[in-house]
Order: sequence, then structure tokens, then C-alpha cells
Amino acid sequence: MRVVVAGQGYVGLPLAVRAAECGHDVVGYDVDAGRVGRLTAGESYVEDIRPERLLEAIGSGRFKPTTNVADCADFDVALITVPTPLRDGIPDLSYVEASAEMLSRHLKRGATVVLESTTYPGTTEELVGPILEKGSGLTAGTDFYLGFSPERIDPGNPTWNVVNTPKIVSGIDEHSLKKIKEFYDGIVDTTVTVSSPREAELAKLIENTFRSVNIALINELAMLAHDLNVDVWQAIDAASSKPFGFMRFTPGPGVGGHCLPIDPAYLSWRVQRTLGQSFRFVELANDINNHMPDYVVRRLTDALNRRQRSVSGTRVLLLGLAYKKNTGDARESPAVRVAELLTQLGAQVRAADPHVVEPVHGFAELTRVELTEQEVKDADAVIILADHDLFDYDMIRTHAKYILDTRRRLSGAHIEVI
Ligand SMILES: NC(=O)c1ccc[n+]([C@@H]2O[C@H](COP(=O)([O-])OP(=O)(O)OC[C@H]3O[C@@H](n4cnc5c(N)ncnc54)[C@H](O)[C@@H]3O)[C@@H](O)[C@H]2O)c1
Repeated sequence: MRVVVAGQGYVGLPLAVRAAECGHDVVGYDVDAGRVGRLTAGESYVEDIRPERLLEAIGSGRFKPTTNVADCADFDVALITVPTPLRDGIPDLSYVEASAEMLSRHLKRGATVVLESTTYPGTTEELVGPILEKGSGLTAGTDFYLGFSPERIDPGNPTWNVVNTPKIVSGIDEHSLKKIKEFYDGIVDTTVTVSSPREAELAKLIENTFRSVNIALINELAMLAHDLNVDVWQAIDAASSKPFGFMRFTPGPGVGGHCLPIDPAYLSWRVQRTLGQSFRFVELANDINNHMPDYVVRRLTDALNRRQRSVSGTRVLLLGLAYKKNTGDARESPAVRVAELLTQLGAQVRAADPHVVEPVHGFAELTRVELTEQEVKDADAVIILADHDLFDYDMIRTHAKYILDTRRRLSGAHIEVI
């Protein structure tokens, strides 16, 4: 089939490459000429897609990255994998709208459109469907098929990927569901059907809200346990020995990326907008997680105070700018907020993260360095924010004067964990 994947990011690129490997003719459409240029040159910016795999897909003639809208013509299946950010705390669906408008101009009878971007329940039927109908003059369900299938990809996860992670599929009616299930059955191991796009949209938000709330619970516990002089990490390890009814979450400097800081807000916005009620768990979890960078800074301030030092003038080396280990994604990363707060207090902040290759948004003045023995020796304090496996922890432990480890990667007399 002729497949268009609109949006070539963390979600769209792996899907496009997989569809090409399964024998489809895939157009990877993106508005970012820089990204498309890198893809065309065989350069991958998504760690789950190795350059060899990308080059093979392009070389097969079945995968064409493009910024040219005309290349999207005559598609059988189109997947929308564009960003769904918040603007001033409100869902910004302008990218989804733009994609749907573009696709509507190429929509033909019998074609299928699937929204994959994370969004609030109702988006596929209330927003995407009408845009497609208006631009094409066709009717959803009668003339073309429409549905929602949330992406669950976990970038950098060595075990679970696009193929072996069960894929929830839905359609606006029976025919749409059948078409969409058939397509995904051809590219992933398992599909899970639900009766309408609304349930599929909500399923994705349940998953991410569950994570956000549980991380917040453990973060709050970690702060309280520290003041109670209890080792929360040991307590979590002990609780994790229970084989049922408990799931392990660990504290950290906050949440980041494209999902946890954003997706639950889509749900709470919808609840507030439609029902006039607040979704209190989401708000509490956001509040706790958003304040974790302040807590990291407070813990460093406390440690410096004990040495009769101030944050101002102190040289601090931050390790890990990405929001989680072994990935290069620094979007909404709490590490960037920690850097900003420390700089405001007068610290000389330097940061090392070999995984983060794209520019870090949100704090332009950040000094990026390579992790060397000299950098560690010259720092008055080192803060581990993302515990990438490729950091040399023995070297860090040996040469650092003081380490605040937000991930409990290390232990020792001059090391504190949060
Ligand atoms: N990153 C994840 O781990 C993950 C996991 C599951 C779901 N999601 C969801 O998937 C969606 C995409 O996320 P992502 O991480 O891939 O984002 P991304 O920013 O990595 O990629 C999105 C791409 O879409 C492009 N784009 C923007 N407007 C476009 C348009 N009108 N037409 C074509 N391309 C356009 C951007 O240039 C960018 O390359 C979001 O809704 C996100 O919440 C992300």
C-alpha cells in the first residue's frame, strides 16, 4: 500500500521505517527541512532507528522522506504523528489540524486515516473527521475510513519497540476498525481493539497519567523520607519484593519529554472544559513533579551550607540533560530547569550529555562540556540528573568532591541521593 506518515519524529520515523520494511511504499512527510535533509542523508536523530536501518529503508526505494506535499498524493493509508503540545496550559492541536487539512486535499475514496498523536478523548471524531470531510468533500465512514491508534513507543527501551508492544486500534465504525486493524496486524505483533476512538484516546492518557501520578507519589515520599531520616530507596527496594499489588517507581529530578508533563493536562483540560470539574490527581501530580528541580537545588544549597559555602560562585557540573537515561531527548527536561535555577542563584553551571545532539531549548546560556576527569575535578559539586550508561561512574566517584545523585547510581561518603 501507499502509506503517508505525517511527522517524522520519535513516533513517526520508527513507524515509517517499519511500514517500509513490511513492504509498503512509505512517504515520510515532515515540515522540518533540516530533519528531512538528515534522513535523506541516512542520518538518524532517533536512537531507536540506527543509521544502517534507515539507509536500508531508503535504499530499498520504499521509504521517501520529504517536505513536498505533492508526494503525499494518492495514499491508501495516512498516519498522523505530529506534536500535540500545550500552549499556556491549553491543548494546541494546530499541528494535527494542519496535517488533517493537508491530507484532506489528497484523500481518495477507500483510503484510511489514523491519528496517532496523543490527545484528549473526542479529537478524532470531533476535530480530525470534520476537517477531512470539509477538505475532501467525502464522508467519513462511507467514503473513507478513520480511527485512532495511540503510540506507546518508549524511546531507548531495548526490550519494547514498535513491533512487539501491543497496539490499541479503533475506528469510527466497524468498517474503519476492520481496515485499521488489518493494516496494523501487518506491521506489529499484536493489536488490541476498542469500540471507538474515544476509548483508544483515553487509554493512552490513562497510561501516562498513571505514570505521572505514581512518580509524583514517590517523589513526595522521597522528600518526606529524607526529612524523617529514612532511606526511601531501600524502602522502595524492599516494597518491590512483593510479587503482586505493587509496581516500582523511583524518585528523580522531575519528569520531562513529550508525554508525562503534557498528556495528563490534555485529560484535565477536557474534564474541566466539558464537565466543569477539576481532575485533582493530575493537578497534584503536576504540582509535585514540576517542583522537583527546586528540591534538587534546595538539596544542593543545604549540602553547600554544611560546608560554609554558597551556591553563588560555586562551580556545578550537571550530568545528563535528557529527561531520562540513555536517550537524547531534552524536551521539557527537568535538568534544564535545574541549570536555569542554579544559574539564577549565581552558580557557574556546566553540563555534559553526549546523547543530546539537538539544541537544548528553554535555557540558551547553558555551557555544554564534555565529561572529562578535569571537568569533574574542577567542579565543586556534581549533580547526576540522567544516569546514562555511557558515563564513567568510577571516574566520577573517584574525582568528584561532592555528588548529589538524583538517580541513586552511586554510593559513598561524599555522595548524597535524593
Ligand atoms: N516521543 C514519545 O515517546 C511519544 C510516545 C508516544 C506518543 N507520543 C505522541 O506522538 C506525537 C508525536 O510525538 P513525537 O515525540 O514523535 O514528536 P516529534 O517532535 O519528535 O516529531 C514530530 C514531527 O512532526 C513534524 N511536524 C510538525 N508539524 C507537521 C505537519 N503539519 N506536517 C508534518 N509534520 C509536521 C515536526 O517537524 C517533527 O519532526 C505527540 O502527540 C506525542 O505526544 C510521543
